[in-house]
Amino acid sequence: MMSALNEQGNVLLKLLADGEFHSGEKIGELLGVSRTSVNNYIKALQEIGLDIYKVTGKGYRCAAPIELLDSDKINQRIKNKTVHVEQILDSTNQWLLDRIPNLQNGQTCISEYQLAGRGRRGRTWVSPFASHLYFSLYWCFDAGIDKVSGLSLLVGIATVNALEKIGIYGVSLKWPNDLYYQGKKLAGILIELNAQATEACHCVIGIGINVRMPPEQAKLIDQPWVDLNQLSSETVDRNLLSATLINELQQLLPKYEQTGLQPFLARWFELDCFLNQQVNLLIADNVKAGVCRGINEQGALLLECDGKIAEYVGGEISLRLAN
Ligand code: BTN
Repeated sequence: MMSALNEQGNVLLKLLADGEFHSGEKIGELLGVSRTSVNNYIKALQEIGLDIYKVTGKGYRCAAPIELLDSDKINQRIKNKTVHVEQILDSTNQWLLDRIPNLQNGQTCISEYQLAGRGRRGRTWVSPFASHLYFSLYWCFDAGIDKVSGLSLLVGIATVNALEKIGIYGVSLKWPNDLYYQGKKLAGILIELNAQATEACHCVIGIGINVRMPPEQAKLIDQPWVDLNQLSSETVDRNLLSATLINELQQLLPKYEQTGLQPFLARWFELDCFLNQQVNLLIADNVKAGVCRGINEQGALLLECDGKIAEYVGGEISLRLAN
């Protein structure tokens, strides 16, 4: 597996990160390579998702300035310096899953690029280079797997809180795992476990947040989406966002471990995008219609049908607004 760009790739990346034009000639001199090789290096960066274009007479530029991920900038804002930054990985979730015996609670892995980013239900999570946030954090629940049923809801709340702390408002939660803004998906959560029924439950909490979607990559996404760039007048600093998210999770997870979801229910009801709306629940091939009444303490969805409230749990259920 390729794990990082080579030296010239990195020099070029740092040069173009300023969002200014750089002539092919100047780039060639800097890298010590021919004009043809410059084209190849540019192509390689475009292939991993960087939005670079060329204007005759001016040279190459990135569509927007990029603040690259920087472990120092993140670690200086968090308590235990628990962040590990990579350029290229298969999946940040997998990186942590492979290291479970050696991890401390809160250990975080983020990457500029995922070769095999995972979404739920075996889907791929489109992960263009330096465009979005691909974030995973490890946590062990000593009380075992029972504690984990509402975890993705808590993580959703923590993520919205972190976004608000960096000035992004109006994001809501769709049970059980998604962040939405006005009907469009902004972020998704994928929690992967390593647990035996009676022992501690090792959780890798994966969060993917759209930050700035390159137009080419947008074509690969088969549902309405939104990115932070559309919600914020300023360029979103992924280092600040990562640190804020780590701090929020580090604060909420120990509390959740002690009390479960109970103290977080009110916040969920504030953020639930379908609360009191007519929805359809898709369970395998069946559709169950009803009114969404939020969640209970176990994180189950409450659906009111014919005056009765039923509880639904499980990853294979999805929720849609009724037409
Ligand atoms: C979803 O399908 O909505 C969940 C998407 C989760 C994507 C994130 S990106 C960081 C982490 N690493 C992965 O491979 N997936 C999660």
